[in-house]
Amino acid sequence: MKRFSRLLALASVIVVASAQTVPIFGQCGGQEYSGPTTCAAGSICVVQNPFFSQCVAGTSVGSPTSVSSVTGSATSTVAASPTATPTGFIKTSGTHFTLNGKTFSVVGANSYWVGLMEYDTTDMNQAFADIAATGATVVRTWGFHEVTTTTDFGAYYQIWNGAVPTINTGANGLENFDTVVALAKANGLRLIVTLTNNWSDYGGMDVYVDQLLGQGQPHDWFFSNTTVIAAYKNYVKAFVTRYLNEPGILAWELANEPRCLGSTSASSGLCTVSTISTWAAEMSAFIKSIDSNHLVAIGDEGFINDPGNPIFVYNGASPSLGIDFAANLNISTLDFGTFHLYPDSWGEPANPFGQQWITDHATFMKQSNKPAILEEFGIDANMSGVYASWYSTVLSTDLTGDLIWQAGSDLSNGPTANDGFAVYPGTAIYTLDTQHAAALKARDGT
Ligand SMILES: *[C@@H]1O[C@H](CO)[C@@H](O)[C@H](O)[C@H]1NC(C)=O
Ligand SMILES: *[C@@H]1O[C@H](CO)[C@@H](O)[C@H](O)[C@H]1NC(C)=O
Ligand SMILES: *[C@@H]1O[C@H](CO)[C@@H](O)[C@H](O)[C@H]1NC(C)=O
Ligand SMILES: *[C@@H]1O[C@H](CO)[C@@H](O)[C@H](O)[C@H]1NC(C)=O
Repeated sequence: MKRFSRLLALASVIVVASAQTVPIFGQCGGQEYSGPTTCAAGSICVVQNPFFSQCVAGTSVGSPTSVSSVTGSATSTVAASPTATPTGFIKTSGTHFTLNGKTFSVVGANSYWVGLMEYDTTDMNQAFADIAATGATVVRTWGFHEVTTTTDFGAYYQIWNGAVPTINTGANGLENFDTVVALAKANGLRLIVTLTNNWSDYGGMDVYVDQLLGQGQPHDWFFSNTTVIAAYKNYVKAFVTRYLNEPGILAWELANEPRCLGSTSASSGLCTVSTISTWAAEMSAFIKSIDSNHLVAIGDEGFINDPGNPIFVYNGASPSLGIDFAANLNISTLDFGTFHLYPDSWGEPANPFGQQWITDHATFMKQSNKPAILEEFGIDANMSGVYASWYSTVLSTDLTGDLIWQAGSDLSNGPTANDGFAVYPGTAIYTLDTQHAAALKARDGT
């Protein structure tokens, strides 16, 4: 990905339909912006951050979040609540998510990359618009990027100088995430935000361990070493506090795919199911203590603890995994369960394994009386047939919802990152996702 100046990119966004009127989702203000500032009929200009004001649908009031608004040359403060923009916080009731007491369907996609590729606001907006056009309600994305040097990095959220981390609140730091949130909302989407990674992509847990405890120390000390826990809490607190009153965020996730074993393969040999459960209980209680508005989940793969089961992912107590889905659902400060589904990397056939995996998690969902979502899934071959069968199982088991891995878009620099699973507009899987979102909402009556 070519580097470019974010400020120049923002300043050069041209989204004007006529000389005088800015269309919906177009830019209508911001530092270094000199284009038209009048929004098309039915939309208003809302300040998303100092660099970007955007025309969003509606004129109504009632949002819990007041934002400064620029309309024409006059600046005023309005309560932003356009029809497309999420207001109100998502809660849970039994196995459902709710909004204002009514069921809220969770269906959508992962886009870990949307805020991390130095996309300008036009591209970022397009990425969200492509997801929203499937009928999606939710996007899961990365709220972390740990770096030890700024060379060749775009947005990053925490930089380490030896054992001293500094949270980046600047334009290529949390201000960038402000834009991610604003553009998700402008497209009517809510975010599930993951706060670190088991894997070394974008830094993650091993950066904390390496910087604080020494290079190559055990991955699982992330979960148990008090120095590391304090540093992670410090990051989480800064991130979460910034968005306390932000209804565009559906939930915080403690980590992407936490396991006893990480990318470095270094292990203390002491990590068990209870290591990660204890950590998840402490961290989720910590978030709840500073943020009573948002839901909290782990972000794990949902391994089931069935000792002796010949299938690896049903042996959550194995020393490399350390996850017991049912036990973690019992933690009172975790609001819903998460699980992933990758039969190819797990050495299993797509089916009947995949359908059974969904069915088993739906059973735990009902036992715990909390929502559970299939929040990542992918298959290498026969995608249409396999995804159709999994969607059918999601619907028939009443599983709360699902998010496909992963969204794809064709942007100004070409197609977005593709790990083999990306779904681009105009493809058969994109159409399937659109049909599924409609079916899931119909099932829920939403
Ligand atoms: C955390 O790691 C540091 C550095 O290895 C060590 O001195 C400290 O005792 C550890 N603390 C815990 C609680 O494991
Ligand atoms: C977690 O990280 C370890 C170390 O990078 C890696 O071996 C493992 O594959 C990762 N797990 C997943 C699910 O990516
Ligand atoms: C979860 O809690 C329920 C109710 O207290 C209990 O019956 C069940 O054994 C617990 N499950 C696990 C795996 O700890
Ligand atoms: C594709 O997957 C579906 C669902 O598992 C299955 O019924 C179908 O036979 C598969 N098709 C091929 C060609 O493997």
